[in-house]
Amino acid sequence: MYRIMVTDHLAEPGLRILSERAHIHLAPEIGYEQLLKCIPEYHGLVVRSSTRVTGDIIHAGIQLKVIGRAGSGLDNIDLAAAGSRGIQVVNVPGANTVAAAEHTFALLLALSRHVCHAFAHLREGGWDRSRFVGMELFGKTLGIIGLGRVGTEVAKRAVAFGMRVIGYDPCASAPSGVTQVGLSELLSTSDIVSLHAALTPLSRGLLNRERLNMMKRGSLLLNTARGALVDSDALYEALQSGHLAGAGLDVFETEPPGRSPLFSLKNVVATPHLGSATYEAQVRCSEQLARRILEVLAL
Ligand code: MLT
Repeated sequence: MYRIMVTDHLAEPGLRILSERAHIHLAPEIGYEQLLKCIPEYHGLVVRSSTRVTGDIIHAGIQLKVIGRAGSGLDNIDLAAAGSRGIQVVNVPGANTVAAAEHTFALLLALSRHVCHAFAHLREGGWDRSRFVGMELFGKTLGIIGLGRVGTEVAKRAVAFGMRVIGYDPCASAPSGVTQVGLSELLSTSDIVSLHAALTPLSRGLLNRERLNMMKRGSLLLNTARGALVDSDALYEALQSGHLAGAGLDVFETEPPGRSPLFSLKNVVATPHLGSATYEAQVRCSEQLARRILEVLAL
């Protein structure tokens, strides 16, 4: 029987499908060195974003036939190494789309209406309503960087809020309701910029200091894609100086980020990479991934 190692959380329905045909080993706490040591015994490896599947892991996995990524981003897997060994890498790009788009709006509304700070104030017995005057989304310009699945779903929801939506993506055409513009125009004219691009060597550091400075004064930045798309030191400065009015962050260059200086800022709302963390997305993701893995193993 094939042996599959699962190193991150995978929802029960997917585990059930896999365990009907293969031997499953759950190791959510496994460290890098231990994974490197055990991987030769496995034919399949299932990960989410927190496991780094390096070239060394892939070369050590002498029996590996498939690596399953429970989600969409493949930036934590050395695809070239997997390709060179003929190991198939499968993901489920559509399974988290709605969850990620909805979470983007959770951050946007929390930020634009000061939900977190207002609740903290109320909890301390406060009732100073004048401190928490927010901003309407209606009539504002949302600039979406990355017009793939999540960017497109964010755009649909923004249109329903009465926002004007512009987008930038060198590899995709604009979905209906979105006007495609250049990156400089998007940064300089958007009231809110939302990142939905994949992390690649080209997109790493996309929002560097210079590009953050190009953003409209008083605008908001949302990042539910990948932390490394943004220079976090430059972001901190832009938020502290008031050049940016706020940031909603779900992802960080290093995860977990520890006590990031960004968390001390009053104009930041942050969550621990929860974009795909809905019950529905987790079930969908686990079932779709389990089926794809069984297909590759011809089980
Ligand atoms: C993804 O790439 O699908 C998301 O970031 C979700 C995750 O990694 O858990």
